[in-house]
Amino acid sequence: MTTLLEPEHREHVTDPLDDITQQTGESPYQVFSDWIDMTVASFSGDEDAYQKPLDRYRTDGRDEETVRELATLHANALGGLVLAMEETREDILGGVYEYYGLTSEHFAQYFTPGTVSRAMAEMNLPDTDSLREATPEDPLVVGDVSGCGSGRLIVDIARRLRGMAPETPTVFLGYDKDPLCAKMAVLNFVLNDMTGYVLLGDALKLDARRVWFISTAQLIRGDHPVRELDTSERDRVLARFFGVPLVDDLDEDTDAGAAQDESDTPDVDPESIPEEPTSTSLDVSLAPDETSQAGFDEFA
Ligand SMILES: C[S@@+](CC[C@H](N)C(=O)[O-])C[C@H]1O[C@@H](n2cnc3c(N)ncnc32)[C@H](O)[C@@H]1O
Repeated sequence: MTTLLEPEHREHVTDPLDDITQQTGESPYQVFSDWIDMTVASFSGDEDAYQKPLDRYRTDGRDEETVRELATLHANALGGLVLAMEETREDILGGVYEYYGLTSEHFAQYFTPGTVSRAMAEMNLPDTDSLREATPEDPLVVGDVSGCGSGRLIVDIARRLRGMAPETPTVFLGYDKDPLCAKMAVLNFVLNDMTGYVLLGDALKLDARRVWFISTAQLIRGDHPVRELDTSERDRVLARFFGVPLVDDLDEDTDAGAAQDESDTPDVDPESIPEEPTSTSLDVSLAPDETSQAGFDEFA
């Protein structure tokens, strides 16, 4: 089953993307993937990733003016997405993905229909004790971690929470093995002002090839709202939320690790060793300005 968006809303996004398809002769999947990549890149300040599709347009022999026009169409699709979200409060990203899936074998997944997702959000709301007890140091954790798709279920829970307990410090988690789905979830987190992490990897194996931290509060500090985590930060997210032991912890827990620690310890002044980050030092204790449950309207 799909989310059938009204054409008038969907076309805010699909018209510019279809223009790109027509101009370049590339598949709707390629154009949609490029658009998602460029939008994540612009929210994370990754200029190289933003330029990648544009460089491909250039190497395909297009002049600078045409490349600029194509870049403008990508930007128009983002403007259209924001507009359509304001008009409908639906998961437009997931809906557009499903719309293209009707005509292309490359769009593999279908997501929970909006009405069902909202009902599920209602049924999965945290109890009042959990809401009351959440603190910035020990926030409420809400996730769809066995395949979040475009993230619509988490978005629906976030919206519902915002209505009933706007001050509750909350971390949202998404996990998907499909890169396009994980990146759509990242964008939905940004556009719905949700603080949290999206993991790209196989949730059954608890691997995470990429992890993004999303917080629009970073904008206030002049940073981008999306930050891709490095390897050690990724490991700490897996440790903090999924109980995956850190390698350091494993070393300490085994005799081999302990023996190695002893034999390998260099004769240096402990004061001169910089403090290693630990699992509790990860940015999951949220500063008050990162726990905003402010809605989409405030973000816009
Ligand atoms: C049917 S969709 C549901 C998406 C979303 N939960 C919803 O309700 O709309 C299933 C999603 O799970 C993802 N998925 C399947 N197996 C997975 C795995 N082992 N690890 C992470 N994601 C997985 C797929 O990529 C897909 O996006």
